[in-house]
Amino acid sequence: MDLLEPFSSRVDLREGLVGTVAHRLSRRLSDLRGLFLDEQARAEMVALGDPLVYEVFVAPAPESEGHLCHGVTVLHPGRVGDEYFMTKGHYHQKSGTAEVYYGLAGTGLMILQTRWGVWRTVDIAPGTVVYVPPHWGHRSINTGEVPLVLLYAFPGDAGHDYGTIESTGFARLVVADNGHPSVVENPRYAVEIPP
Ligand SMILES: [Fe+2]
Repeated sequence: MDLLEPFSSRVDLREGLVGTVAHRLSRRLSDLRGLFLDEQARAEMVALGDPLVYEVFVAPAPESEGHLCHGVTVLHPGRVGDEYFMTKGHYHQKSGTAEVYYGLAGTGLMILQTRWGVWRTVDIAPGTVVYVPPHWGHRSINTGEVPLVLLYAFPGDAGHDYGTIESTGFARLVVADNGHPSVVENPRYAVEIPP
């Protein structure tokens, strides 16, 4: 039996996860082509400095059955047109696996949706625990003025399917309406055909 040594890391609200960290993934606006409705606004922002949208700090838990992958996402504040900065969003490749998110700093929303167009939003703030049940795709959105910092944990063998969301989008967008977040229909959303 392979016995993994116990380990710990530490959350720093500015630095993300520090200490025992396997890797750090950064997404700039140039990495997020096609994600936002206003592609022209995105391209202009890329040309003007290409802001960092989010970072994921991954603890070194193995991506295999029995383990719990975990880490911290730091999603920066900002907007592309009226649309708030957000993560790409994904389904789990092993669809019957869940995830827990815990809000550490900042404010925002998670949008969750099934592959058949059922969608929900959940507000997230420091102290909020969000349970993402099996089969729900999920994306985080920062609707505040400061970084949205989230701790996450999911089964090590869950895997990620980013491609489906890349092609269908989410059924709803979260946009600023007179300075307040508003959940509106996504005109580009393409529902999948149930199997
Ligand atoms: Fe996930």
